[in-house]
Amino acid sequence: MERGLEDVKSILKKYGQEHLLNNFDNLDEKHKNELLEQINNIDFELIHNLYNSTKQKKEKNTDEITPIDYLDKYKLNDKYKYYESIGKKAIKEGKLAAVTMAGGQGTRLGHDGPKGTYDIGLDSHKSLFELLCDNLKEEGKKYGVTIPWFIMTSRENNEETVSFFEKHKYFGYQKDKNIFFFQQGELPMMDTEGKILIGEDGLIKLAADGHGGIYESLVKTHMTKKMRELGVEWVFIGGVDNCLVKMVDPVLMGIAIDKGVTVACKSVVKANPHENVGVFCKRNGKPNVIEYSEITDEMAEATDENGELLYGESHILCNLFSIDAIERMGAEPLPYHVAFKKAKYIDKDGNLVEPDSPNAYKFEAFLFDSFGEVDDMAILRVKREEEFAPVKNNDSAGVDCPKTARELYKKFYKL
Ligand code: UD1
Repeated sequence: MERGLEDVKSILKKYGQEHLLNNFDNLDEKHKNELLEQINNIDFELIHNLYNSTKQKKEKNTDEITPIDYLDKYKLNDKYKYYESIGKKAIKEGKLAAVTMAGGQGTRLGHDGPKGTYDIGLDSHKSLFELLCDNLKEEGKKYGVTIPWFIMTSRENNEETVSFFEKHKYFGYQKDKNIFFFQQGELPMMDTEGKILIGEDGLIKLAADGHGGIYESLVKTHMTKKMRELGVEWVFIGGVDNCLVKMVDPVLMGIAIDKGVTVACKSVVKANPHENVGVFCKRNGKPNVIEYSEITDEMAEATDENGELLYGESHILCNLFSIDAIERMGAEPLPYHVAFKKAKYIDKDGNLVEPDSPNAYKFEAFLFDSFGEVDDMAILRVKREEEFAPVKNNDSAGVDCPKTARELYKKFYKL
C-alpha cells in the first residue's frame, strides 16, 4: 500500500534513513513522486539486516563441501541417442523456452551500453544478442519450432536494450509473441555507516540485485505464466556474454526428463585451478556452486587419484530448469553476497562526491544459491571449444576477452 509523506517520514526515522528526504523540497513534482515511490518499494527491514550482515564477523564456514557427479556428453555411448531422442521430442512439442540474463552493462569490457549490444569484432559486426539469436533460430528450424526467447534486462539498460532490438527488427523474432523482455530487481546501495545513498538525480541509488532474483522476477512479471500459456515446460537460463552458448540441447533436456530431475546444468573442465569460474560441488549433500571469489586455494588445487581436479566442473551459466522449479525457487528468499564498490553520490550538503576508492555496499543474490533447493540435479560435461567463449574483460586481460571469444567463435563456425 502507498504510504503518505508522514508515514514515509516515520518509517525513515525508524530505520535511521531520514536523510533521504533532505533534498525533497528542491525536487520537481515528477522526482518527488519517483522518490516516494522508491521509498515505498524498499523493504527497509531487509536492507537493515543486510547492512548488519556486513558488520558481523564472518563465521568459519562449517559447510561440508564434497565433489559432485557428472555425465560426460561424449562418453554417453548408446545413451547419447536415447537421451537425444527424448529431448528432441520435447523440443518439437514446443516445451522449451530460452532466457538470457542481460541485466549487466559491459563495464569490465569498457563498453558503454548493455552488454548484449557489444560487437566482438567479427567481420559481420554482429552483436552478442544477434549471435545468440542466430543460434536460437538455427536450432528452432531443426525442430520446426520458434523457441520463445525471454530477455532479462535491468532498469539501467531496459530502454536501450528494447530499442536496440527494435532497431534490428528483433532479429526476425516478434515482440510479445515469441520474444519478451522483463526486468530484474534492484536494491539500494549503502555507505559504510548504513545510510542509503542518493544518486546524482536526487533519487535513491539502486543497483541490480544479481541474477539470483531471476526466479522471482520471472514469476512477478508473469513470464512463467506466459511460458505456461505457450506450452513450455523447460526453461534454459544462460548469460548474455557467452557467444558460443547452446541454449537448445536435446541431450541435456533428455537427461533431465529421463532422470526426473528439475534442474540440469552444463559444465566444462576448468582450464586451470585458478580460472575465474564457479565450480559445481555438493554442499552439505545438496548440489551447489562455489564461486571463484570464495573457493580456497587448497580446494581449487585438490586432485583425485587420476590427477583430475576434484572441483573441476566449471559452472558456465548454462542451466536448464523445469517451470515448477523456477516457481518454487522464486518463492524462496536467497542469501545476498556483498560487494564493496565505488559509487558516486550526493552528500548531506547536496554536493556530488566522486570517490576514487570503494565506498558503497552492493547486494547481489546468485542464481545457483537456489540449487540447494533440489535434492538432485544432473550435470553434463560439454566441450569448452563448442560451448564456452565468454566475453568478460577487455583485450588487455588476455582471457575471456573479445579476442579470445572471437577466435573460438570463428573456429567453431569455421569462419
Ligand atoms: C559468472 C558466474 C560464474 C561462472 C562464470 C562463467 C556469477 C555470480 N558467477 O561469473 O559462476 O563460472 O559466470 O562465465 O554469475 N547478470 C544479470 N544481472 C545481474 C548480474 C549479472 O543479468 O544482476 C548477468 C550478466 O549480464 C551476465 C551473467 O549474468 O550475462 C554473468 O554475470 P557476471 O557478473 O558477469 O558473472 P561472472 O563474474 O562473469
